[in-house]
Amino acid sequence: MENVAIKACIGEPTEPTNIVIFGAGGDLTRRKLIPALVKMLRCGLLHPKSKIIGVLKDRSKEIWLDSLHQGMLDFAPEIEMHEEQWQEFSAMFKMVSGDLQEEKTYTDLAASLESLDGHVNAMFYCAVPPRWYTTIAAGLHNVGLANENAGFRRVVIEKPFGMDLESARQLNQELQELLDESQIYRIDHYLGKESVQNLLVYRFANSILEPLWNRNFIDHIQISAAESNGIEYRANYYEKSGALRDMIQNHLMQVMTLVAMEPPVEFTADAVRSEKIKVLRAVRPFKTEEIKQQTVAAQYGAGNTEDETLKAYVSEDGVSPDSVTETFSAVRFHIDNWRWQGVPFILWTGKRLPQRVSEIVIRFRNPPFNLFDTHANPPSANSLVFRVHPDEGIELRMNAKMPGLTTDIQRMVMRAPYSENGEDVSDAYEVLLHDVLTGDATLFSRADEVEESWSILEPVLTAWKDRISVERYRSGTWDVPGMDTLFEGCVSGWHKPG
Ligand code: BG6
Repeated sequence: MENVAIKACIGEPTEPTNIVIFGAGGDLTRRKLIPALVKMLRCGLLHPKSKIIGVLKDRSKEIWLDSLHQGMLDFAPEIEMHEEQWQEFSAMFKMVSGDLQEEKTYTDLAASLESLDGHVNAMFYCAVPPRWYTTIAAGLHNVGLANENAGFRRVVIEKPFGMDLESARQLNQELQELLDESQIYRIDHYLGKESVQNLLVYRFANSILEPLWNRNFIDHIQISAAESNGIEYRANYYEKSGALRDMIQNHLMQVMTLVAMEPPVEFTADAVRSEKIKVLRAVRPFKTEEIKQQTVAAQYGAGNTEDETLKAYVSEDGVSPDSVTETFSAVRFHIDNWRWQGVPFILWTGKRLPQRVSEIVIRFRNPPFNLFDTHANPPSANSLVFRVHPDEGIELRMNAKMPGLTTDIQRMVMRAPYSENGEDVSDAYEVLLHDVLTGDATLFSRADEVEESWSILEPVLTAWKDRISVERYRSGTWDVPGMDTLFEGCVSGWHKPG
């Protein structure tokens, strides 16, 4: 198959913009935002006259810039930024020192933006814990910085958008009292991944998939994110969240909407998002008595790899020894509409699994009659696999004849990577930051989508809330109890990446 490479540097150039980062001394800024901005600048996708204004406290500008530079070396070594280039880049930086709760911080910020001649557009990135989102929006609003009279004012927030339906509604309501919904960009970094975006192109720019993309040909769909890491340093967040809230409610359900949606009438943010929400509205509500059969929750126990001993979740720093938080979760959804009636969508994710792989597996029905029934290797169901990461690309798994004087069957995999060496695959943050700057909200979650996905999961959260125990799996294995039962009736069962 011909290699379909995507060029990262293609895109609409942006106007000079003030990029204000709240929480500019934090991990997200160092690991993701600054490397993405550097790449955009190099590609000509960030206007060189733009300014990056960090809002932080208790740090001098020099120490802050040093930590950003170190972050580049640690987390984005492929960028190869030499001292001189860094000096040049750091001329774009300004700093406003202050507390997020104090009005002075926002008046100082307003004064700082005012001093930048001709810079009227501003993006405010909240790289801070969600409890600060409303405080920041109010701070901006009160000093007139949310006002779009002269240029755009866009506020970017990161998940989690609430911890359940009620808190999500409250957050949306508070933000919408201070900002217009069109100014709020809710980042779901999964939607910025090349292969996720490419789903829309594969589906709607090709005519061969559409006739197959329905209940007549597809048996079931699996959308997964397996991770080999544990929870690392995030016990505080993860203990309250768990895998369902962390990955399924947002990233994987968002991907599900892209897989299942109808073609939008045009490729605009609202047309696409209106189709996505229809999918969520068609998801069959969970009945309390069925939740046990339709979900899996499990937690990693101790284990080992060839060269490492892996701690159990309950032995991780900051985790309660009797925690029942799930580090693996799976949900079997049904979408009650004409296209998908009877096709299970099984979304699963877990930490401390053997590999880090994220995939969308479209599993087709078996042929109506098996001519090769008596052969040694019976044919296996066809699958179309979209690899989200690593090795972004698409794979078609079919059956073929073994070479030689036999009609025995072997699996044939046709693989089309997006790029041979990965260099053309853009980082999700580059894509999403660029979209914010150009005002394209297609890949951002709208308030109603967020609320709808929480509302679907509400019965599961309620059922899981008071559990007193949780199943365990050995770290570094796929031995997750309950997964085979969850796939009952699905052709060829659980597709473990490999
Ligand atoms: C985050 C989750 O949203 O996504 C993490 O909070 C998870 O727990 C991460 O590890 C996975 O993202 P990626 O892009 O590394 O697959």
